[in-house]
Amino acid sequence: MRLSDCYNFHDFRKLAQRRLPGPIFNYIDGAADDEATLRQNTASFERCDLVPNVLRGVETIDMSVTVMGQKLAMPFYCSPTALQRLFHHTGERAVAAAAAKYGTMFGVSSLGTVSLEELRRAYDTPQVYQFYFHRDRGLNRAMMQRAKEAGVNVMMLTVDSITGGNRERDLRTGFSIPFRLTLAGMAQFAVKPMWGISYLAHESFKLPQLDQHVDMSGGAMSIGRYFTEMLDPSMNWDDVAEMVQLWNGQFCLKGIMSVADAKRAVEIGCTGIVLSNHGGRQLDGSRAAFDQLAEIVDAVGDQIDVIMDGGIQRGTHVLKALSLGAKAVGVGRFYLYPLAAAGQAGVERALGLMRAEIERGMKLMGCRSIDQLSRENLRFR
Ligand code: FNR
Repeated sequence: MRLSDCYNFHDFRKLAQRRLPGPIFNYIDGAADDEATLRQNTASFERCDLVPNVLRGVETIDMSVTVMGQKLAMPFYCSPTALQRLFHHTGERAVAAAAAKYGTMFGVSSLGTVSLEELRRAYDTPQVYQFYFHRDRGLNRAMMQRAKEAGVNVMMLTVDSITGGNRERDLRTGFSIPFRLTLAGMAQFAVKPMWGISYLAHESFKLPQLDQHVDMSGGAMSIGRYFTEMLDPSMNWDDVAEMVQLWNGQFCLKGIMSVADAKRAVEIGCTGIVLSNHGGRQLDGSRAAFDQLAEIVDAVGDQIDVIMDGGIQRGTHVLKALSLGAKAVGVGRFYLYPLAAAGQAGVERALGLMRAEIERGMKLMGCRSIDQLSRENLRFR
């Protein structure tokens, strides 16, 4: 199977599985506990159907949207994800380059493996910087200052990770940074030597967003310890309100699920929220983001930009979310498998397929632009 044989999410996933050592594939593919929320995220899109209109003159299609002040050529963006150079040696560079080519936004994680300054300089695309809230308030301010100096467009604070989700696949393989593999995990690396050669042949693995603050080299601090020792479980709305004021620009909370929280986000001056359950990786049993979308849009959709992510695999999933009132959607695994499978060429192919599916879907639904999509186009079963 080659990249040119990949036509959808499942094809890319299969190719990624072939290329990656088991522990790394499972880190991307897995979720918390029984992975029920992971399954529900995609299943939720099957609980409603599209109702198309015809004969509306759809020779030209405009799928651009403006979200949190950023004009995007397509209504979806690459959600922030950690550790991308583990998946392919080009990591964030490949994803940022592909996002720039397709005119969409790219989320850099504070657990990313290429520096946000380099990405900002090299790729002409709106940049989101996603970070976590640390016990050390000075560190939080320093991260925002650094983002400001780098010219980040949107600051995004992830609020659903007050403690790590229970990811049993990772426990089984011993996946951690630095690697502390179980015997079974080690055996899975041994059977994928090409990944190892590529990994060792390129620059050493770093977390440049945290380098100045946390020493991840030589096992001094693992990602697991970073979460438990450095992140602040006492984080509350007053803390976040202070950060929103300090940033004084586009500020978004990622991991909002309840109407009450969405309203608080509006009150403290956020300009966006990402309705998200972290791709099912945190609280298993949490409702699918798409199932929760209508409630959230009804409560705050006229006051704040609502983005949703989780489970999106098809252009029609994007169209369903936009019909319900999301301003844009995020994708995670949808670009991570192609990244793992074939680097930048893989991500470009995936984004291109998604764009083509959205364009075809809009034509078949009789919509020339995103604002023509509405709840009239949707029926729940
Ligand atoms: C993530 N996600 C994530 N979110 C975040 O705020 N910071 C991060 O560092 C990461 N890292 C991360 C790694 C991997 C491997 C995955 C799969 C996900 C969550 C991500 O931004 C997004 O919410 C989900 O991926 C959306 O679900 P789908 O599209 O993967 O189903």
